[in-house]
Amino acid sequence: MGIFDWAKGGKKPKAAQTDRPVPRHIAVIMDGNGRWAKKRGLPRQMGHKTGAETFRTIATYCRDIGVKYFTVYAFSTENWKRPQDEVDALMNLFRAYLTEAAETMVARGVAVRIIGDLSVLPDDLKQQIADVHALADTLGPDAATASLCINYGGRDEIKNAVRAIAREAAEGRLDPETITEDDISARLYTARMPDPDLIIRPSGEIRISNFLLWQSAYAEYYFTDVLWPDFSTADMDAAIDDFNRRNRRFGGV
Ligand code: FPP
Repeated sequence: MGIFDWAKGGKKPKAAQTDRPVPRHIAVIMDGNGRWAKKRGLPRQMGHKTGAETFRTIATYCRDIGVKYFTVYAFSTENWKRPQDEVDALMNLFRAYLTEAAETMVARGVAVRIIGDLSVLPDDLKQQIADVHALADTLGPDAATASLCINYGGRDEIKNAVRAIAREAAEGRLDPETITEDDISARLYTARMPDPDLIIRPSGEIRISNFLLWQSAYAEYYFTDVLWPDFSTADMDAAIDDFNRRNRRFGGV
């Protein structure tokens, strides 16, 4: 039994449920890792390590049930304020995951993408991300996509889009009077993907914490008290079933 099996009580994920509609794009704020570790008397890093394993399980499950886009908040623009050893541990988890993604992505058929202001990341991580993106580009537009938001902030993303638009307008390439919402969407990190349909936040917190601010205009939210490292495929099923019971009107009647 591996370390993650004992951590989760040795539960096996149940078979993928494929007989119902699923959201095209599900996003998750992976919260509660620290509390999960504290409850067990473990260092916070163990919560993140187990949370990374939960990400693998849930991303795979989403692919299996036909979710085309799965996006997670892995590190915010504010998370640099955490103790250095915690930041280092998270960066090492990203390194390990990117190594694995580079080796397995083509066989799994899932394009892995990293979203955020990547300019300040360590050089080796930037190189790994460039390599993984180059591989993702070979998979074609129909591949399922798993996106990790790293050094991501919704306001920071919008600010960068505004700067890009202002630059283009100053250079005469864009007419300020004709700027559309699509022009703004096209300059966000998520330019290539549809807006999220369902945003899940575990751990009992009920706020959006600067996540996908522009893109979440019509998203359905789902909150649960389960801590992210404990989040199971059954929890994902419950979130999707709840989503399927909602009546999305997009401002209509
Ligand atoms: C918030 O929980 C979680 C984070 C800041 C980090 C999330 C990152 C991971 C799960 C690892 C991702 C790695 C890969 C490879 C996908 P918290 O630490 O704020 O928890 P707390 O509120 O209980 O303290």
